Amino acid sequence: MTAPNRAPIGVFDSGIGGLSVLQSLLTALPHEHFVYLADNGHAPYGEKTDLFVRQRSLAIAQHLIEQHHIKALVVACNTATAAAIHELRTHYPHLVLIGVEPALKPAAQSTRTGRVGVMATRGTVGSEKFARLLASMDPATHFEVKACNGLALAIEQSTLPAHAEQAQAQVSQLLRQYIQELGEFGSAPGQMDTLVLGCTHYVFAQEELQQLVGGEVRLMSTGEAVARQTHRQLEAASLLSPQAAPAQAHGRVALYTTGDLSGLKAAAHRWLQLPAGDCHLASTI
Ligand code: DGL
Repeated sequence: MTAPNRAPIGVFDSGIGGLSVLQSLLTALPHEHFVYLADNGHAPYGEKTDLFVRQRSLAIAQHLIEQHHIKALVVACNTATAAAIHELRTHYPHLVLIGVEPALKPAAQSTRTGRVGVMATRGTVGSEKFARLLASMDPATHFEVKACNGLALAIEQSTLPAHAEQAQAQVSQLLRQYIQELGEFGSAPGQMDTLVLGCTHYVFAQEELQQLVGGEVRLMSTGEAVARQTHRQLEAASLLSPQAAPAQAHGRVALYTTGDLSGLKAAAHRWLQLPAGDCHLASTI
């Protein structure tokens, strides 16, 4: 039997968005193995009910524990964290569990104009967890919040070889629309100088977003902070993989999808340079 500290870390998202978090985890935790689950078969989460997202999150956690014997679980999805982190903690009190939330706190520290734009899914923006986070912020910072319906799905579809061009055009159109609706970006007084990417999918549109809002606007995502937090929690639980073990360049990640395998392969290759052979179809979850 594998020693507990050599067991893999589970990571999941509704789809490919969590790969942006996995990227940071791979860098910050070079001795660890990962099992990534993309729930593409049930995406997007952001426009589903809380109950649905909660049920999917619990089923995925159980699958990763039973089939892959994970030692920790990173919920690499803002929507699933908002809907299910509490239930996950209740069901699995002994599992090291790390969630993500939109980077409002770092944004408040970084803004000079005191105005911050936030893009996230409807599920995240409408959640109690997000309302509490927003209410906890110093009122000196104004947050302009936008629920970006359709954007995560369009980003997801832009990786499917058969739909790439059409979906990319849709991504561009939605980005322009939501940025325009959020208001004026820039470094002058009254303008938003910081933009929070409150959905892990949006990180894959950051170049285009940066062009739209201008170079002086700071984009905030959570991958690196989540990776640091995962390291801290594993260390506290004495579950870090031993440093003496050779860090393998290959075979450190196994990726699974409940949906389209070609999309996952394309995304894993495009963003993480991972070989198609690391990607598999998940058994029914
Ligand atoms: N990537 C997810 C998030 O961070 C959700 C995308 C979706 O399925 O709507 O919120």
